[in-house]
Amino acid sequence: MTNRQDISNENSAQLCEIAPEKFDIEPFTLVIFGGTGDLSRRKLLPTLFHLCHDQNLSEDFAIIGIGSTGRSDDDYRAFVKRSIEEYSEEIIHWPCWERFSRKLFYVSGRFDDKNSYKKLFERLTELAKPNSIGIKEVIYYMAVPPQFLSGIISGLSVCNLCKGAFSTRLVVEKPFGQDRRSASELNNMIAAAFDESQIYRIDHYLGKETVQNILFFRFANSIFEPLWNRRYIDHVQLTVAESIGIGHRAQFYENAGVIRDIVQNHMMQLLSLVAMEPAIGFEADHIRDEKVKVYRTMRVMDKDYIDKFTVRGQYGAGEINEEKVPAYRNEENVASNSNTSTFFAGKFYINNWRWAGVPFYLRSGKRLKKRITEISIHFKQPPLKLFSAVCEIKEPNFLVLGIQPHEKISLHLGVKHPGIGKQLYPVNMDFDYERDFDINVHFPLPYERLLIDCIKGDQTLFARQDGIEAMWAVVDPIIKRWEESPADDFPNYASGTWGPEKADELLMRDGRQWRIW
Ligand code: BG6
Repeated sequence: MTNRQDISNENSAQLCEIAPEKFDIEPFTLVIFGGTGDLSRRKLLPTLFHLCHDQNLSEDFAIIGIGSTGRSDDDYRAFVKRSIEEYSEEIIHWPCWERFSRKLFYVSGRFDDKNSYKKLFERLTELAKPNSIGIKEVIYYMAVPPQFLSGIISGLSVCNLCKGAFSTRLVVEKPFGQDRRSASELNNMIAAAFDESQIYRIDHYLGKETVQNILFFRFANSIFEPLWNRRYIDHVQLTVAESIGIGHRAQFYENAGVIRDIVQNHMMQLLSLVAMEPAIGFEADHIRDEKVKVYRTMRVMDKDYIDKFTVRGQYGAGEINEEKVPAYRNEENVASNSNTSTFFAGKFYINNWRWAGVPFYLRSGKRLKKRITEISIHFKQPPLKLFSAVCEIKEPNFLVLGIQPHEKISLHLGVKHPGIGKQLYPVNMDFDYERDFDINVHFPLPYERLLIDCIKGDQTLFARQDGIEAMWAVVDPIIKRWEESPADDFPNYASGTWGPEKADELLMRDGRQWRIW
């Protein structure tokens, strides 16, 4: 993340020298529960290696994997090397491996065995280095399925590992609970051992560069703010479309479904960034206060509303990128009569002065035609249509915030088509990350950014207790309604399409249509 960006290229009228950001990363010790699990192999270990290579970690750090398989430190080092080889998303610079591998350690032990925590305590006492003010910072990363959390936290607590000998932080992965009640129980259980200021509830969407840019775009530019409300905005669309299926994650997905997997967390985060009021500052709690207000002002859906204004779907067999893919019910370990939804569409309202009456249409699904995450803000029509449109433009003005795979911001306008007629023609004003920034600029991957923030002690990009519970409160009624009235038409969309027809009808009834690509 130490990058230097000079935007004095020919596209730019202004010159701007970006000084390399200076992070004072202090010594720390990261303890990964589930240090040999899927998340560690795929994301955490390769990311830590790259951070080390990019000199973004202090000289004095240690990583301790903890897991039930018996392994020595050297076995763990070999395991980590294989994980990096297999899953690194960036170019691997092996010369730095020696330095990195010396920082890797392993503690074998079951999570429900008190001895594991005693061993951990001993290892921490030996390995954790004090920072500049003499404090030993220890981060516990819960890279384990949720059912292990309470056992681990009570093990840490009993052995005095939460507060006391070390200054500690706790990173908890999603899914955070199953519903509002379980999320609140989980929060209470954690709160008995850790203060809120020690807890980092991670959502990797918030580590995406373009997601962070939503706030910069909205609050660093004054021209959009006067338009960013019910007077000028007709509606907002949020799409998180994936072309992949559930892979080998049936055990998790069968219980989660699309709402728990994507809507409750990633989509609610995106929505709050688009809808929140300007914060009074850029401190973690200033931002998080405003986001929570959005969730709290969202219209609570009753059964009738859910039946009319939400759509569920499950993928059938189909073709994606010219490859045949199976139906959800034929995926490995999925029940042949599964009622799990892999697609969601719904119309939400935010009942405050800025947004009253503006629909927010959300849609997400697996095995859709393309992988695309995008937010589009659709502005109202001019009051009079003065120009005939041979090229029929339903809505001349909308703003697209492209999150992935194309990271861009694009304002769509209507202009006069050259000629003697009066025809309106659609054009775009684009900002494109790849084109407009020096290609040498390093885009930190979400986990790089979030791990660094956690090491620095910055909670801005992590969900707070009240935020998590408020997000669940928005989706709980939908999950409940769907569970009490199983769908009778699953599978109702073919893989490789844009989802069930009912999702299109949801917008057509309002005289609108989804963006398609
Ligand atoms: C995860 C979900 O949180 O996000 C997955 O559990 C999903 O089901 C993934 O595939 C999508 O993340 P991204 O970064 O690829 O959009």
